[in-house]
Amino acid sequence: MANILEVQNLVKNYGAFQAVKGVSFNIQEGEIFSLLGPNGAGKTTTISMLSTLYQPTSGDAQIAGHSIVKEPMQVKRAIGVVPQELALYEDLSAKENLVFWGQMYGLSGKALSARVDEVLEQIGLTDKARDKVKTYSGGMKRRVNIGVGLLHKPRLLFMDEPTVGIDPQSRRAILDTVKDLNQHGMTVLYTTHYMEEAEELSNRVGIIDHGELIAIGTQKELTKQVGENETLLLHIGEQEEPAALATALKGLPNVLDINVVNAEISVVTSSAKDILASVVGAANARGIKIHSIDIREPNLEAVFLHLTGRALRD
Ligand SMILES: Nc1ncnc2c1ncn2[C@@H]1O[C@H](COP(=O)(O)OP(=O)(O)O)[C@@H](O)[C@H]1O
Ligand SMILES: [Mg+2]
Repeated sequence: MANILEVQNLVKNYGAFQAVKGVSFNIQEGEIFSLLGPNGAGKTTTISMLSTLYQPTSGDAQIAGHSIVKEPMQVKRAIGVVPQELALYEDLSAKENLVFWGQMYGLSGKALSARVDEVLEQIGLTDKARDKVKTYSGGMKRRVNIGVGLLHKPRLLFMDEPTVGIDPQSRRAILDTVKDLNQHGMTVLYTTHYMEEAEELSNRVGIIDHGELIAIGTQKELTKQVGENETLLLHIGEQEEPAALATALKGLPNVLDINVVNAEISVVTSSAKDILASVVGAANARGIKIHSIDIREPNLEAVFLHLTGRALRD
C-alpha cells in the first residue's frame, strides 16, 4: 500500500521551548496509526502542524502527495480533522450542525443534504438527527464532532484524543465508530494517552514522549524490540498449596520468573505457548487443579516503561 502521509523531521518551537523535536513517520493508506504518549508529549502540536493549523518551525510532510508547507489548500482537501474541543452549536440539531459545517466546506443543495444523511448514518445518529445537540450525551456530541470531520470525504482522518472525559459506554461507541470507518476505507491518525485504545485500534503505533518519537511499529514489533516477555497467570484453588508447583515450574525451560500471590501463580516466560503443556503436566503430576489460565501478552505500557523509566499515566 502507498503512503498517504510522510513526515520528515517535523519541528515546532514555542519561543525557546521545543515542543516537537524532529518527528518522522509514514502512514499507509488504509491504516489506523496511533500516536501514543502522555499529556504534553506533543501529540496535538504534531496534529496541528499536519493539519496546516500551525506552520512547522522546520521539516515538512506530504499528505496525499502534497506538502503541508507549500500546498496547504490541497492538504486541507485531503484531510478531516476531529479536534479535542467540540465545535458544535448546542441549540441546533446534529443535522443542522452538519449542514452548517457542510456549507462552510462549500457544499450546497441536494449534494449537501445527501452527504449530511450519509454522515449521520456513518456516526450512528440518524435516529437522533433532529434532536438538539444540548440534549445529547457527551459521547453523542463527540460523534457529531467526528461527523463534521467526515463531511468533505477526506482520505485521511485526524482524531485528537476523541475519548478524553467521556463515560465508558460512549468511549466504546467512539472506538467502534473509528473501526467501522476504517473498515469502510478511511485511513486514521489517532492520538491517545490510553494504551488500551492504541492496542485495540492500531495497525501501527508511534510512541511519543517529550516531543520525540521514541519507538514505532506494530504492537508485536514494539514489544519484541524491548524484549518483553509473556506472563501466564494460573488460577488455582484457594485450598491448594502453590509453593510446590511454583518450585517445579521454576525448573522448566523458557521459564524466567515465578511469583505467587494467594491462589495465583504468575509465570514469566519467553514463550507461553511452548510451556503451556509442561505447566499443566506439572500441576497434574502434583494433583493440583488449575481453574483457569490467562496469557498476558507484553503491552505498550511495558514498552513505555522500558523506554522511559516512567509510567504512561501518572
Ligand atoms: N501554544 C503553546 N505555547 C507554548 N507551549 C505550548 C503551546 N501549546 C503546547 N505547548 C506545550 O508544548 C508541549 C506539547 O503540547 P501538546 O502538543 O499539546 O501535547 P499533547 O497533545 O501530547 O498533550 C507541552 O509541554 C505544552 O505545554
Ligand atoms: Mg493534546
